[in-house]
Amino acid sequence: MESAEIRSRWLCFFENGNSQGLTHTVVPSASLIADDPNLLLVNAGMVPFKPFFLGEITPPYKRATSVQKCVRTLDIDEVGKTTRHASFFQMCGNFSFGDYFKEGAIALAWELLTNPVSKGGYGFPEEKLWVTVYLDDDEAADIWHKKIGIPLERIQRRDMADNFWSMGVPGPCGPCSEIYYDRGPQYGVEGGPIADENRYMEVWNLVFMQNERGAGTGKDDFPILGELPAKSIDTGLGLERMAALLQGVENIYEIDTTAQILNKASALTGVKYGSDEKSDIALRVIADHARTSAMLIGDGVTPGNEGRGYVLRRMMRRTIRNMRLIGSHDPIMGELTLAAN
Ligand code: SER
Repeated sequence: MESAEIRSRWLCFFENGNSQGLTHTVVPSASLIADDPNLLLVNAGMVPFKPFFLGEITPPYKRATSVQKCVRTLDIDEVGKTTRHASFFQMCGNFSFGDYFKEGAIALAWELLTNPVSKGGYGFPEEKLWVTVYLDDDEAADIWHKKIGIPLERIQRRDMADNFWSMGVPGPCGPCSEIYYDRGPQYGVEGGPIADENRYMEVWNLVFMQNERGAGTGKDDFPILGELPAKSIDTGLGLERMAALLQGVENIYEIDTTAQILNKASALTGVKYGSDEKSDIALRVIADHARTSAMLIGDGVTPGNEGRGYVLRRMMRRTIRNMRLIGSHDPIMGELTLAAN
């Protein structure tokens, strides 16, 4: 299934296509330049909706859906080496602002993932899906087990570092429930996501937004300031990870959109992808970073020595360096970004 198809199925399902009759307003992706003094760049689908969760602005709709451009550079050194780390990605999300909560979010996610492709879904076999819930979230575990029918052995509990989501800065937060797809024994050991996150790939994160957090130093080290004005839902499904699974490719760098840049870099250098691990990593880094550069430039960022400009400069510098490592000293940024979409 092409990336464009994954995106349109997502939006159709939430706009008006689910069996629960929960219509959502389709909201176009916001610019990567976050309207938030705490954030350099938009790093999650919920960022444009933050004031709605906090009750600072009354939302013009109770339910929304979007496919949001995101940039995350925290794991930049993992890019190209793992199957799933990207500095640019699109986050498909559905949001409820004081409307449906855990039960609605879980039922919607299950329906879209497991509905057959012929009926507008993504067609995942139920028995390949595992879920995690926050340590004491019996309510979510019960919904998964009793309402959806997932056997208890495929429901795992994880602590704050894994199953309590926040933006990493002060703002809305809450326990979350993640859905994983078992790619099979050739990818790692048995035992669910707590045993192996390469074999069990996270596809969807359902956040039960209910608290506001203050400043802190880590994923599990911050004060909870209080409850949000309304219990809300923020979910995120990485379009590129979904595409890797539905296109049957090994990693997110080989999906339809990103492969165009990877193939361009290969054509420009004459280095064949798949010939050795070192040049494969370089090609994957180039594909990822050139795509991120194109998206940043598209939203008005220019290379610089600080802030967003520095992020872009770093992306471009690493792209050029990796092209040099595999043999091209030509001015290649233009050609590579033309291949990005
Ligand atoms: N905000 C959550 C995430 O980024 C779910 O959308 O994973």
